Amino acid sequence: MVNYIDAATAPMKNTGAIRLYGPDAFEGMRRACQLTARCLDALAPMVQPGVTTNAIDRFVFEFGMDNGALPATLNYRGYTKSTCTSINHVVCHGIPDDKPLRDGDIVNIDVTYILDGWHGDASRMYPVGEVKRAGIRLLEVTYESLLRGIAAVRPGARTGAIGEAIQTYAEGERCSVVRDFCGHGVGRLFHDTPNILHYGRAHEGPEIREGMIFTIEPMINLGRPHVKVLADGWTAVTRDRSLTAQYEHTVGVTATGCEIFTLSPAGLDRPGLT
Ligand code: MF3
Ligand code: CO
Ligand code: CO
Repeated sequence: MVNYIDAATAPMKNTGAIRLYGPDAFEGMRRACQLTARCLDALAPMVQPGVTTNAIDRFVFEFGMDNGALPATLNYRGYTKSTCTSINHVVCHGIPDDKPLRDGDIVNIDVTYILDGWHGDASRMYPVGEVKRAGIRLLEVTYESLLRGIAAVRPGARTGAIGEAIQTYAEGERCSVVRDFCGHGVGRLFHDTPNILHYGRAHEGPEIREGMIFTIEPMINLGRPHVKVLADGWTAVTRDRSLTAQYEHTVGVTATGCEIFTLSPAGLDRPGLT
């Protein structure tokens, strides 16, 4: 089934080829991604015990409206919220609701704004009140996993180099890498080729080329890697109910490495961590 959004972008699809973008596209992505980053910055003081994830969702919607941007998740494949809020053992795609956050929770907030047709996709973990050491350590390992993946991005390498860097580091820290979700090409489309796996070997996957734009968004578990999706069709949880975390950046490949479009202008890429 094709909805009207898919129909509008259908001419851009089905080439199989990975799109390469020029300076104008990079500028458009920079602007969309910086709006997303500013929203994630503005949320930091709001993420406290007692606040509901629906209140966070409303803030994300209104921040978008105030800045001329539409949340990409709204009515995306039947999803009806402006953000995903994934708490504790929820791996990703948690649906905002009226339950308040509780002291000791860790929550991922994932925002994608469409600004002038460009998609800016990023997420961060927020500690709620006092979080136990194991949780804080998971957040540190997960952000470092993302940074190691980003450091592997350069023209000539394969996308598998990103996965290998993440998997080697995370498993060395006695954590596990979720296999069921991956990063993705992004630009005028929300989810485009290539898939960016967060595990694997450096010789695998397509060659990275200057002008590619994609996300890296590793999901790292304290327990085993396996996940299941709840009956709502969205909420993914760890099968062993172990704690899980995720951070996401959108990057553009340059001649020598990559530019991180979604870096926090306030230095809040890892809220609550030092
Ligand atoms: N923002 C998510 C990503 O990082 C996708 C969410 S799709 C939704 O790719 F429908 F679950 F919102
Ligand atoms: Co993404
Ligand atoms: Co996202």
